[in-house]
Amino acid sequence: MIAIGSDHAGFRLKEKIKDFLKKREVEFYDFGPENEDSVDYPDFGEKVAKAVSQGKAERGILICGSGLGMTIVANKFKGVRATLCHDEYTAKMSRAHNDSNLLTLGARVLDEEMALKIVEIWLDTPFEGGRHLRRLNKIKEIEDKNFIEGVSK
Ligand code: RB5
Repeated sequence: MIAIGSDHAGFRLKEKIKDFLKKREVEFYDFGPENEDSVDYPDFGEKVAKAVSQGKAERGILICGSGLGMTIVANKFKGVRATLCHDEYTAKMSRAHNDSNLLTLGARVLDEEMALKIVEIWLDTPFEGGRHLRRLNKIKEIEDKNFIEGVSK
C-alpha cells in the first residue's frame, strides 16, 4: 500500500498521481488534503511519513510546491528514506542505490508528464543491494545512535 499526501500546492498533482495509481491497480491511501485550500505541509508530511515509518504503508508519496519542505519533514521519521526526484535519472537512482521508500515531488517544478514518469520509474525500479546495502546500513546505524523513539538525543 502506498500512502499519499500533499499540501495545497501539490494537491492537483496528487489527484493526477492517484488516477495513475488506479490505472496501474496500485493500492493507496490518501492522507489529504481534499482541496486546494491553503494548509501547512508538515501536517500532511507527518501523516504519510509516520505511516511508512510504522510499517502501515510500504511506501509513501508526498508533494508540495518545491518538494523541499516535504523532504525535510519525511526524513525526520525513523526508517524513512525520502528522496526528492526531478528527472528519470534521480528517480532510478533513488530506488537502485538509496532504496527510497518515500518519493517527494515539487509540483511547481515538474510538468505533469515528468512527474508521472518519475512515479512510474520509482515504482518499477528494484533496489540493487550489495555495496548500496552496506551504505544504507550505515544510515541506519546513524539513526540508531542519535535517536531514541524518534526523539533526537
Ligand atoms: C507553499 O507555498 C510552499 O512553501 C510549499 O508547497 C513547499 O514548497 C515547501 O517546501
